[in-house]
Amino acid sequence: VELGMGPGGLTVARVFGPAGSAEIYLRGAHLSTWTPTGGTPVIWMSEQSEYAPGVPLRGGVPICFPWFGAHPTDATAPSHGFARLADWQLAEAREAGDDVVLVFLLTDTEATRASAWPHPFEARYTVTVGATLSLSLRVTNRGSTKLSFEEALHTYLAVADIRQTEVAGLEGAPFTDRLTGPRPAESTPVRFDAETDRIYLNNPATTTVTDASTGRVITVAKQGSASTVVWNPWIDKAAAMADFGDTEYTGMVCVETCNIRDNAITLAPGESHEISVSYSAA
Ligand code: BG6
Repeated sequence: VELGMGPGGLTVARVFGPAGSAEIYLRGAHLSTWTPTGGTPVIWMSEQSEYAPGVPLRGGVPICFPWFGAHPTDATAPSHGFARLADWQLAEAREAGDDVVLVFLLTDTEATRASAWPHPFEARYTVTVGATLSLSLRVTNRGSTKLSFEEALHTYLAVADIRQTEVAGLEGAPFTDRLTGPRPAESTPVRFDAETDRIYLNNPATTTVTDASTGRVITVAKQGSASTVVWNPWIDKAAAMADFGDTEYTGMVCVETCNIRDNAITLAPGESHEISVSYSAA
């Protein structure tokens, strides 16, 4: 593991393991690349991403915490929480067989309690880089009252052609279309021919992302996660986002491992909860 300077002067941990390589920015503990050795990149980053204070990276794995989407009551609070904009600390880096394991920490400070979220907490994010990529976020309530939060590992997966991509594993599950409202379950995998923004609640299923243009299958297996979000902005929304290239929507899909809305987590004082996901590509 090497700590270096990335674009915008951001500090980035570069991992070159025998089984895979990765880069993780300390800002947001934001993983931006993962490539299994001998394979092609599995995680998508926008060419148009900004690397500047106060703006999240576009692509990779943003950590959304402690709320998902807009803040429920404060319109000035950052989208998807403050964790992806905060400086995390690299607490540990070690080898485990062919894997490299990194641990990042974020805890409350006087500043987070005053201006972002009035709660004592510890977030411990473990990234295991190998032939598989595993991500695990453990949140502990360090306060003396109940703690409730939403969370998402908002992963952007790379595909060669979204129009030939399908996401399987969510068939049979009702969902909320963020554009049109509650929808009944479908019997076929999710396919993409328009903006797609879906929340599946009470759904711990493993999903697979198959890109027929290359034959690659990415498996997304999760634990401690009851919600899944599937997102592709398509043409108009891509064009409207300053940090997203107009035609880049063809090369990505977000399959997000979450606990959001009715699946938000509540912890008693001292209690912890862990959400984990692992990715493999074949
Ligand atoms: C997805 C949401 O998870 O994140 C979308 O479902 C949203 O509605 C997208 O547009 C990107 O959010 P942001 O804040 O990174 O632009």
